Amino acid sequence: MKMLAHAGRDASQIPISPFLKWAGGKSQLLDALLGCLPDSFGCYFEPFLGGGALFFRLFSMGRIRRAFLSDSNKDLINCYLVVRDELGALLSRLEHYQKHAGAKDFFYEVARPGFNRRKLKTGHEKDVEKAALLIYLNKTCYNGLYRVNSRGDFNVPWGRYGSPKLYDERNMRSVSAALNSKGVEIRCCGYREAVGHAGAGDFVYFDPPYQPIARSSSFTQYTPDSFSEGDQRALAEAFRELSQRGCKVMLSNSSTPLVEELYRDCISQGSFRIAMAARAISCVGSGRGRIPEYIICSYPLKRQ
Ligand SMILES: C[S@@+](CC[C@H](N)C(=O)[O-])C[C@H]1O[C@@H](n2cnc3c(N)ncnc32)[C@H](O)[C@@H]1O
Repeated sequence: MKMLAHAGRDASQIPISPFLKWAGGKSQLLDALLGCLPDSFGCYFEPFLGGGALFFRLFSMGRIRRAFLSDSNKDLINCYLVVRDELGALLSRLEHYQKHAGAKDFFYEVARPGFNRRKLKTGHEKDVEKAALLIYLNKTCYNGLYRVNSRGDFNVPWGRYGSPKLYDERNMRSVSAALNSKGVEIRCCGYREAVGHAGAGDFVYFDPPYQPIARSSSFTQYTPDSFSEGDQRALAEAFRELSQRGCKVMLSNSSTPLVEELYRDCISQGSFRIAMAARAISCVGSGRGRIPEYIICSYPLKRQ
C-alpha cells in the first residue's frame, strides 16, 4: 500500500543515497550539479533515472515539491516500485541473498539465470524476486554494470568483491519513504513521453547514456537499444523544445565534439560547467581515469 508523506525532508537528516550503483551515476558530480541548479522550480523531472543520485540529494535537501522519475529500463523501474511498495518482502529476500554475496558459483548458477528467467513486460509489475536479484547482481557484478545481450539476458560477469554489502537497511527505509512521498511519481517510459507534460517553471534534468568518447567505451550499453548519435541529436532537440516551453533544463554528458556541436548556443553563452569524473573507460591505459564532463543548462548560470 502506498503511504503518503510530504515530499522533501529536514536538511539536518543524513542524506539519502542511491541504493544501486548505476553506470554513469552522478554521486561524484553532485556538488557541480548542485552549483548549477535553478533558484526555484515547480516539478522536478528526472527521465534518465538510473541510480537517481540527484533526486535523492535534492529530496534530502528539502528541494522537491513534486517529482516525476522515470527510465526506460523495466528491471530498474520494477526495482524502484518494489522498494516503494513492497519494502518488507524485499528486505527479507535481500537478507537471504546477503548470505550468498561472496559466492561466485551462486552468482553464475542461481542468481543470474534466475534473474534472466523472470522477464518483465512493463516494468510496473512489482516483482519482488526480480528486484532482489537485480540488487544482488548490481552489487556483486563487475563495476555494477547493467548490460544485456540481444535476447535481453543480463550478461555482466562476477565482480570479485569478496562479500559486498548488498543493502543498507536504514538507507533503504529512507529511500522507500522518499519514493512514497506525496507528489513523487515513478514510471517506466522513454524520456520523450516522460517530459511530455513538463511545463513552464518545471526543472528537467537529462542524464542520458553518454556519447562515447572512444569506440570501445561501453557507456551506452544499458538497454538492448543503445543510445545512438541520432538519439543524442533528438535529445538536443527535446532540450530546445522544453526550454522554449519555459522549462529549466540541465543536461550532463561527456565532453565530445558532437555534444559541443549540439549545445553550441548554451556553451557560447557560458551556460555550462566542466566537471571532472572518474570513469571506467578503455581509452585510458588502466581502464579507469578522470575525464571532463559537461553540465549544460538552458538558463543563465551565476558567475563562479
Ligand atoms: C547515465 S544513466 C543515468 C544515471 C543516473 N543519473 C544516476 O545518477 O545514476 C542513463 C539512464 O538512461 C536510461 N535510458 C536509456 N535510454 C533511454 C530512453 N530512451 N529513455 C529513458 N531512459 C533511457 C538507462 O536505462 C539508464 O538508466
